[in-house]
Amino acid sequence: MPAPLTATAIAHPNIALVKYWGKRDDVANLPATGSLSVTLDAMRTRTRVCFEPGLGADRVRLDGQEDAATSRRVSACLDLLRRRAGLAHGAVVESDNDFPTGAGLASSASGFAALVTAADAALGLGLPREELAQVARIGSGSAARSLFGGFALLRNQPDGGVAVGPLLAPEAWPLRVVIAITSALPKDVGSRDGMAASRATSPYYEAWLRSHGADLEAGVRHVQGRDFAALAAVAEHSCLKMHAVMLTTQPPLLYWLPATLACLQALQVLRRAGTPVFFTIDAGPQVKAICEPAAVPAVRAALAAVPGVTRVIDSGLGPGAYRANG
Ligand code: PMV
Repeated sequence: MPAPLTATAIAHPNIALVKYWGKRDDVANLPATGSLSVTLDAMRTRTRVCFEPGLGADRVRLDGQEDAATSRRVSACLDLLRRRAGLAHGAVVESDNDFPTGAGLASSASGFAALVTAADAALGLGLPREELAQVARIGSGSAARSLFGGFALLRNQPDGGVAVGPLLAPEAWPLRVVIAITSALPKDVGSRDGMAASRATSPYYEAWLRSHGADLEAGVRHVQGRDFAALAAVAEHSCLKMHAVMLTTQPPLLYWLPATLACLQALQVLRRAGTPVFFTIDAGPQVKAICEPAAVPAVRAALAAVPGVTRVIDSGLGPGAYRANG
């Protein structure tokens, strides 16, 4: 059957509970550390890819805008898939997010996961998710995890590669993630440049790498054992260590706003009063609070009351990237 040449896919962002920050190979875009994440269902990227005979270069529009840097990263992923398909057509790529782009809400993760899923279908390749994840991580390291639903795990391998796959299905431990938006503005320094600067200048970078393996293995154990309190401790530690590396980068990477810190304090107060909840923050000012479903109303109310919080999104754990109509 000939390849349809057009397909649409949907993917959800994911947030890491054990973080990755830093690369060991910039060209192959290999992360310096593994990571463990949850895929969210409340936000999504929808991407349509149409390969056109005679089109010399890819045309990429993200939320209606063209951007040269994004287009280069998209083309790098498409080139790998085109090679697999033995096809040279350029592609028209239209992608939209139903949440703020580039603001620490993992839009690049859902974006590249949707891209490779749509392109794979359009080219009629039918590659397994594990292989598509290897292509998605060329565009964005964290995108590999959005191919999978629920809890996903990315581990560095002794042969120098990475293995990425599912750790636990969403229904096996249906945690909720309550997100406090404190700014919808795109960040000043993107993850890729920020990581390179941290590796080159932060005195904490080596310590971050050295101590990361133990955090990842503990995170895996606590997810498998559904141990909320133990997972909370390792996730907050991993997050704060990553931000310590960011803060000690020169020039410093200060992604937090006053409201970011106020959210952490509000969650601490809530926890001391007996509500099980923990936080994580990515390269941006938003706070993600992870809790059991019964705690959602209290967590929502506490975050919504913080001055500077403009919106609160409550999310369940979502599926991996999938093909959609359109
Ligand atoms: O996907 P990237 O390469 O832009 O990196 C994302 C890094 C963090 O979101 C800050 C942490 C993580 O593990 O997702």
